[in-house]
Amino acid sequence: MKAEELVAVTAQHVEKLFAGEGSGHDWWHIKRVWQNALQIGRQEQADLTIVQLGALLHDIADWKFHAGDEEAGPRAAREWLASHHAPESLIARVCQIIREVTFKGAGVDTTPSTLEAQVVQDADRLDAIGAIGIGRAFAYGGHKGREMYHPGQAPQLHASFEEYKKNQAPTLNHFYEKLFLLKDRLNTRTGLQMAQERHQYMQQFVQQFLREWHGEEPAPAAFQVDASGVTTPSASS
Ligand code: ADP
Ligand code: NI
Repeated sequence: MKAEELVAVTAQHVEKLFAGEGSGHDWWHIKRVWQNALQIGRQEQADLTIVQLGALLHDIADWKFHAGDEEAGPRAAREWLASHHAPESLIARVCQIIREVTFKGAGVDTTPSTLEAQVVQDADRLDAIGAIGIGRAFAYGGHKGREMYHPGQAPQLHASFEEYKKNQAPTLNHFYEKLFLLKDRLNTRTGLQMAQERHQYMQQFVQQFLREWHGEEPAPAAFQVDASGVTTPSASS
């Protein structure tokens, strides 16, 4: 099977699996990541077959929905690609992307080891910030039954993936614990350019949210956001 054909059948397969999903990890998320990854991958001169397959399969069996099992994704991708007789070298490169894209907590270095994985990670992270990022965060929070905000529950910078996984904090905390941090962790220049406007928009949103919530009162110190950026909460123990 030719590379373009494999990309096309993979897109159809993933669309079928993810249509109508309600936690912000639906087919449209995958499609946006696919398109952004193509755009970034072209600019950065990455291998576009690997980039596209990695983008399409990156959330195929996300640990967040498989009892924390980080190998569920690579396993499902391998099965799918092998059933289409893809060569082992291609399968290994795609699985490596799936293993490396995910965010693992503020204190955990998740810089991918290949250009293709860096491109897919940037595309995935762009979809977690900006207007769409805000929508997805609250969709995810609602799906998990989380509160939107709790003034007494300060954001935590998680030092390990285990700690990050266990986190059940209100959705607004997620902005401080992940979303505001993403801009400075993008891998490619193209990704960084695309992130600027989205990052600012998200900061304005949180400022406005807190103004509406607290009125004349200042928001708790742990949630202060100002023009220069976000006050970083202290690392969790
Ligand atoms: P990653 O691979 O980095 O986990 P995903 O593409 O799976 O990224 O998507 C993560 C999305 O899920 C984010 O956009 C975010 O909005 C949402 N999300 C994950 N954890 C939380 C949380 N604790 N609160 C709110 N949203 C969350
Ligand atoms: Ni994703």
